[in-house]
Amino acid sequence: MTPVARIRTVVPADAAPLSALAGELGYPTTTEEMRNRIEGAASDPHHAIYVAEMDAIVGWIHMSVNLSLESGISAEIRGLIVTEACRGGGVGSMLVAAGEAWAKKKGCRRIRVRTNAAREKAQAFYAKLGYRITKTQEVFDKELAGSGNAKY
Ligand SMILES: CC(C)(COP(=O)(O)OP(=O)(O)OC[C@H]1O[C@@H](n2cnc3c(N)ncnc32)[C@H](O)[C@@H]1OP(=O)(O)O)[C@@H](O)C(=O)NCCC(=O)NCCS
Repeated sequence: MTPVARIRTVVPADAAPLSALAGELGYPTTTEEMRNRIEGAASDPHHAIYVAEMDAIVGWIHMSVNLSLESGISAEIRGLIVTEACRGGGVGSMLVAAGEAWAKKKGCRRIRVRTNAAREKAQAFYAKLGYRITKTQEVFDKELAGSGNAKY
């Protein structure tokens, strides 16, 4: 039987395992950077981060509530990862359920998640949980010279 994970709200002391998981997903992040991000999110009621814990932290989800002039208020899954060894055991579903419950409590009617088109497995996962593709987009980034000291 798959051991059940405990879902709880993140605390800054979780920074090291969360940065390790971000690295697993392809986003190398130092523990200090992650601690700053966790503290930034924790001080903002429009963000929530939950972790899944077994013997250690095995996954996390980052949620936000977004305001759009075009489409109003909606929730978004900003990041989700379950460590490879624990995938397929229901942990991802538990994290999404926690994120959905938070979004409902915030009064949101819709949750959006953007996932890289190359992540076919993640797409199968979201489809299984009732998410449907509503549009595809190109993403444009630009580096801003002479900046980079933003604090949240
Ligand atoms: C996507 C991810 C979070 C899913 O977590 P998980 O704990 O493995 O998911 P679950 O075990 O809760 O799976 C729930 C359902 O999704 C489906 N699913 C999960 N992984 C799947 C896969 N690789 N292929 C097809 N279906 C899959 C399963 O059918 C499962 O339903 P079942 O219980 O009937 O078998 C995890 O695979 C992961 O961290 N992937 C890498 C990071 C990533 O892609 N994150 C999303 C970026 S937005």
